[in-house]
Amino acid sequence: MSKIGFIGGGNMARALIGGLLADGKSAADILVSEPVTEAAQRLQSEFGVQVSSDNDQVAGQVDCLVLAVKPQVIKGVVTGIADTVRASRPLLVSIVAGIPVASLENWLTDTAALVRTMPNTPALVGKGITALFANGSVTESQHRLAEQIMDAVGETLWVDDESLLDAVTAVSGSGPAYFFRVMEAMVEAGQSLGLTAEQSTRLTLATAAGAAELAIRSEYSVAQLRQQVTSPGGTTAAALEVMQALDVGDLFDQALRAAHRRAGELAQELGN
Ligand SMILES: NC(=O)c1ccc[n+]([C@@H]2O[C@H](COP(=O)([O-])OP(=O)(O)OC[C@H]3O[C@@H](n4cnc5c(N)ncnc54)[C@H](OP(=O)(O)O)[C@@H]3O)[C@@H](O)[C@H]2O)c1
Repeated sequence: MSKIGFIGGGNMARALIGGLLADGKSAADILVSEPVTEAAQRLQSEFGVQVSSDNDQVAGQVDCLVLAVKPQVIKGVVTGIADTVRASRPLLVSIVAGIPVASLENWLTDTAALVRTMPNTPALVGKGITALFANGSVTESQHRLAEQIMDAVGETLWVDDESLLDAVTAVSGSGPAYFFRVMEAMVEAGQSLGLTAEQSTRLTLATAAGAAELAIRSEYSVAQLRQQVTSPGGTTAAALEVMQALDVGDLFDQALRAAHRRAGELAQELGN
C-alpha cells in the first residue's frame, strides 16, 4: 500500500483524508504535517492518522506527497522540503490553486514527478470534481495513485495541456459560486412573489440539486432537457424569454472569460 503524506492539514486535506479512509485506505498509511497544534490534535483524534509539525519528516517517508497549503505559503513550503524531495522522490500532487508546474519545478530545482490539480469546494462534501495535469516524469502507476486520491472527494478529469487548468478554474473551480449567486437571486425573487425566505430557499436548493441530478442521469443534453420542459406559451417559456432578452448566455461567457483571465494573472503573480 502506498503511503500518502499531506503538507497542510486544513479543509481540503481533511476532506481528502476522510474520503480516503472511507474508501478503505488504512490510517497507518496516511501522514500529515500541520503546524497548528489544535488542528493537528483534531486530525489525530478524528482520523487516527500520524501527525507531525515537521514537513521534512512527512516528505521523507511517503510515496506521494499532497501539497495542501494556501498559495501564499507554497513557495516557502516547497523550497523548505526541496532537499528531502530530491532524496526520497515521492510523487508530488499539488492542490494549490494557480501554482504552475514550472514554478514547483523551479523551487525544487529538479524535475520531480508532479501532478497539478484543480479541485472545487463541493469536495468538502465528497461531490467535487478535480481536473488533473501530470508532467512528463509521472509514471502510469503514479497517474493512478493521483487519481485515486482525488477520486476520494468526487469525480476526476485529466487534461493533457496545463493551460487548460485556467479554463477548468473558470468553469468548475469558481463554478460553485456562480450557482450560489443564481440560487441567491432565485431565493430573493421567490420572496418577492410572497414565499417566506425558508420556503423559497428550500424550493430553490431542492430544484438546483434535482435539476443537476436529472442532467447527470439523463441521456439528453442540458439544452435538450431545457427544451423538453419548455411548453410553448407556458410559464417556463415566459421566464426563459426574459433570460434570452437579457442575453444570459453572453453574461456567462463574459463572467467565465473574466475568471479565466484572472486565473492566468494569479499564476503569474503567485508562481514567481
Ligand atoms: N477549499 C477548496 O475547496 C479548494 C478548492 C480548490 C483549491 N484549493 C486549494 O487547496 C489548498 C488548501 O486549501 P484549504 O481550504 O484546505 O486551506 P486551509 O484550510 O487554510 O489549509 C491549509 C493548512 O495548511 C497549514 N499550513 C500553513 N503553512 C504551513 C506550512 N508551512 N507547513 C505545513 N502546513 C502549513 C495551515 O495552517 P494555518 O491555519 O496555520 O495557516 C492550514 O491548516 C489551497 O491552496 C487552495 O487554493 C482549495
